[in-house]
Amino acid sequence: MALSTRHILSIRDLSSRDIDLIFQTADSFREISERDIKKVPTLRGRTVINAFFEDSTRTRLSFEIAGKRLSADTINISTSGSAMAKKGESFGDTVLNLEAMNPDILIIRHNQAGAPLLASKLIKKGHVINAGDGMHEHPTQALLDLFTIREKLGRVKGLKVGIVGDVAHSRVARSDMLLFRKMGLKVYLCGPLTLMPPSVEAEYGVTWVPSFDDIIPKLDVLIALRIQKERLEEHLFPSLREYARYFGINEKRLKKAKTELLIMHPGPVNRGIELSPDVLDGPRSVILDQVTNGVAIRMAILYLLLGGEGEKGT
Ligand code: NCD
Repeated sequence: MALSTRHILSIRDLSSRDIDLIFQTADSFREISERDIKKVPTLRGRTVINAFFEDSTRTRLSFEIAGKRLSADTINISTSGSAMAKKGESFGDTVLNLEAMNPDILIIRHNQAGAPLLASKLIKKGHVINAGDGMHEHPTQALLDLFTIREKLGRVKGLKVGIVGDVAHSRVARSDMLLFRKMGLKVYLCGPLTLMPPSVEAEYGVTWVPSFDDIIPKLDVLIALRIQKERLEEHLFPSLREYARYFGINEKRLKKAKTELLIMHPGPVNRGIELSPDVLDGPRSVILDQVTNGVAIRMAILYLLLGGEGEKGT
């Protein structure tokens, strides 16, 4: 079984069948990471390049570990050490030179929306995965988010998810909204109006609520987005203290929540701003499960993009 798409640039590339297939495959790969010897020969001889033109800890490592556990040769390049940063090579030329070395999969993170799409148009063979492009999308993060919800709550359809924070600058929120709506979840957004994209409700079929204290009792999942400190200078909200006061999630605010409410965050977390330490380290938080599941989801994607043939493991 294979995916219906050659590249994964956006959640829009995936059908519901693709998403189910990724989840079922990730279910069977999850166990490999729990073994003493965390490696199967499935992608032996395949080459995966992690081309990260923007900083990342979790996502880069997660793709690298996923490739290595399937025995692919994984190679990392980052902007700081590349000819693009230091010698003036264009992004397109860099991509063509990477392709000339015959990788099977090119994983791209870039601060410009559309960079992975451009790469996919330039290369003739192989596959491109978007690992986060500007404010556009981060499809594998959304997949690991929904996979974690499915694992913890046993279902996805009909669930109510709140996303709180800086939606306007968040590629995670965009991919989450597309994926959750496609799979039948209801999405509520909350955060300062200056951090909401215009027409987000009509465009994504979601609902903006001014105060999330009103919707907390009906939510099954609450996803906090990172406050992008680097954007504070744009004066989109008065101060971190004020943000934390109105939109920070703490135990007091969760008093009326369902007992099974899940707290999620794509990381990196600003401890004490988006989430108070008691919530972050508390029983509802599945933030580290998201990280664990990210490896299984990325293993599934690498395997399925390369045809999903052969043994999944031994
Ligand atoms: C996010 C990203 O880089 O898009 N993190 C991640 O990939 N896990 C979110 C962020 O940086 O705010």
